[in-house]
Amino acid sequence: MKAIVLYQQGGIDKLTYTDYATPEISETEILVQVEACAINRLDLRARQDRPEVDPFPHILGSDIAGVVADIGPRVSEISVGDRVVLSPNISCGQCNDCTDGNENLCSRQKLIGFHTNGGYAEYVAAPANNAIFIDQSLDFSSAAAIPIAYLTAWHMLITRAKIQPGEDVLILSVGSGVGSAGLQIAKLTGCRVFATASSDQKLQIARQMGADFTVNYKKVDFSQFVLDQTNGRGVNVVLEHVGQATWQQSITSLAKNGRLVTCGVTTGNEGQIDIRKMYQKQLSLLGSALGSSSELRTIIQLANNGMLNPIVDQTLPLSKAQLGHQILEDRSNFGKICLSPTLSAE
Ligand SMILES: NC(=O)c1ccc[n+]([C@@H]2O[C@H](COP(=O)([O-])OP(=O)(O)OC[C@H]3O[C@@H](n4cnc5c(N)ncnc54)[C@H](OP(=O)(O)O)[C@@H]3O)[C@@H](O)[C@H]2O)c1
Ligand SMILES: [Zn+2]
Repeated sequence: MKAIVLYQQGGIDKLTYTDYATPEISETEILVQVEACAINRLDLRARQDRPEVDPFPHILGSDIAGVVADIGPRVSEISVGDRVVLSPNISCGQCNDCTDGNENLCSRQKLIGFHTNGGYAEYVAAPANNAIFIDQSLDFSSAAAIPIAYLTAWHMLITRAKIQPGEDVLILSVGSGVGSAGLQIAKLTGCRVFATASSDQKLQIARQMGADFTVNYKKVDFSQFVLDQTNGRGVNVVLEHVGQATWQQSITSLAKNGRLVTCGVTTGNEGQIDIRKMYQKQLSLLGSALGSSSELRTIIQLANNGMLNPIVDQTLPLSKAQLGHQILEDRSNFGKICLSPTLSAE
């Protein structure tokens, strides 16, 4: 099969389009013919230097949609030809967290494409349990845009921050995969959304998607903007994933009883907080990582019904994976970049 193979970590030039052995499946696995695989920011770090990446040579790609091409002998609920999206998290299924439905807390969890070979390829092997059916109405790129970005944003806003209709939610870097998903989920819930981005073009798209207030943080201090627009009150919830560079302003943007929920540290791990202000304002700081497969099924159902419309910036042929990584590095995407092995490079 054709695949993008990493023989060693490093720059974008390390993404090698080549022939590679088609994966074999175990008794409980399925073989998926990949139609689309979305790129995540984690892929850039995995390509560069993340030490957990395994096996080597490695095939990246955690967000996979395609058609079932083969099934192991002990697979019963899935048939060849089914259209599926893969839940990206392979959990042990046996620990207390797994049996409680909190697979994203499992200490033995693995991420497809990070701890296993993934979807930058014509075929990928995965546990049958990870497959979720998608309707004909949901195209493969839209389906591939869902798992990591939408599951993360859903778990952050719905499960952790418990957003309510009428609340004010600030979404940082709204053009990111997680941010654009967060914008849709907050609007679906009936929240008023404040959104930041580094370009006016991204903010224009955010307004078209329903953002109520937008601010270019390269030109204006976004926390001051939020306070100005809320008569000094601040927002109920901040969706954080940028990290060190925005942490202080994110906390300043919170109203009394506000909740900050974070899933990422794109700009660094360090953040400070004034503890007195935190308890006086009764703030909550919430961590969040991926989500459960039951949450993902809910999201896929909403997408199947057209109530969530995944934001795909563009789909590139698999052979253009280097360009896909470059677009994310340049921060010029609004939503997800997908790779498709079935899209011609001509
Ligand atoms: N914990 C989890 O389960 C989980 C799951 C998914 C993602 N994440 C994390 O969440 C973050 C966002 O992921 P994503 O896939 O949505 O990312 P993405 O689509 O690549 O978007 C990242 C955005 O961050 C903004 N940004 C601000 N400062 C930046 C800087 N110095 N360098 C690069 N980008 C900067 C950029 O938008 P502007 O230029 O408009 O600001 C950029 O487009 C990442 O840190 C990722 O690892 C965590
Ligand atoms: Zn477990």
